[in-house]
Amino acid sequence: MADLTTTYLGLKLDNPLVPSSSPLSKNLDSAKRLEDAGASAIVMSSLFEEKIIAEEQHALRFFHQQAIGHAEADSFHPQFEHSMGYQEQYLAHLSDLKAALQIPVIASLNGTSQGGWLDYAHSLQQAGADALELNIYHIAADVHEDSATVENRYLDILHTVKSQLDIPITLKLGVQFSSLVHFAKRLEMAGADGLVVFNRFYQPDIDLETLQVVPKLELSTSSESLLRIRWLAMLHGRVNLSLAATGGFHQAEDVVKALLAGADVVHLCSVLLERGPEHLAVILQDLEQWLTAYDYASVAQLKGSVSQQHAIDPSVYERANYVQVLDSYSSPSGVWR
Ligand SMILES: Cc1cc2nc3c(=O)[nH]c(=O)nc-3n(C[C@H](O)[C@H](O)[C@H](O)COP(=O)(O)O)c2cc1C
Repeated sequence: MADLTTTYLGLKLDNPLVPSSSPLSKNLDSAKRLEDAGASAIVMSSLFEEKIIAEEQHALRFFHQQAIGHAEADSFHPQFEHSMGYQEQYLAHLSDLKAALQIPVIASLNGTSQGGWLDYAHSLQQAGADALELNIYHIAADVHEDSATVENRYLDILHTVKSQLDIPITLKLGVQFSSLVHFAKRLEMAGADGLVVFNRFYQPDIDLETLQVVPKLELSTSSESLLRIRWLAMLHGRVNLSLAATGGFHQAEDVVKALLAGADVVHLCSVLLERGPEHLAVILQDLEQWLTAYDYASVAQLKGSVSQQHAIDPSVYERANYVQVLDSYSSPSGVWR
């Protein structure tokens, strides 16, 4: 039987299948089912600073209303008793996951302010997170902000968090960077332990009846994995960072390709939401069978063996084949040309 073990962010894992940040980590039962199906670690759904702030503002408005109200009317207001806030609940859930699971638990943080990133990261480490994923969701739409400023924001957040924490830190990136490999190198030099490639931003849609712009969440398909595979292949060997693939990994073949390109772990989300936590065991079994069928002794042997540095034709990952690919297209038979 092939050796499936891998190392990610310094954590020794039994295999490369790690459920990414999703609602499946929000309850103990589905998290336990993922572990039972063979997940080698789990990433929690993100702690959002926006939600903490919104909750604080809500509480402030409530107290303000009470302070200016009439004594008689006060008796009609509900009393503000201490109940666990969003952040407290998240931290309590992290402790519960740590107690219930044997596998490492990676916390995920989506901050908005510099101070917030640091304070919340601290509390996640204290609550027992084995590593921390920084989910920096920034859409660069400011006409006055150049790409260096955008990149520096990531570096500043990383620097702030890294200088105060002991656990490994990884960054979940979007794809829209002008010079991704160079930027990844800068993140490595600033102390990042890993990268998650790539966050999947949800595209708002325009409702043609109401002309409202509406948020739309659609689950991924396998075809989205190719973008990730290309960039993993270009990153592998050029940066000294743990690499995780996320976005469009639905079956063992997708996972094998990510590993061949250079991923250390492959995150699963949409496929598990569609098919349930137990489907992870199917992908794991198929992965094992693939390794045996193709005579691989271990995941380590596979990792990065078709990265750009090791591919038979490295230029395929870059522009070189662009013209040939376009020329190779032919319309399906029967379609008018
Ligand atoms: C319902 C849902 C909730 C998600 N919540 C988070 C989250 O809290 N934090 C985060 O970083 N990513 C979140 N993601 C993104 C996933 O972790 C994953 O990166 C993305 O869906 C791409 O992987 P997939 O193609 O396997 O779905 C969420 C995705 C879905 C579908």
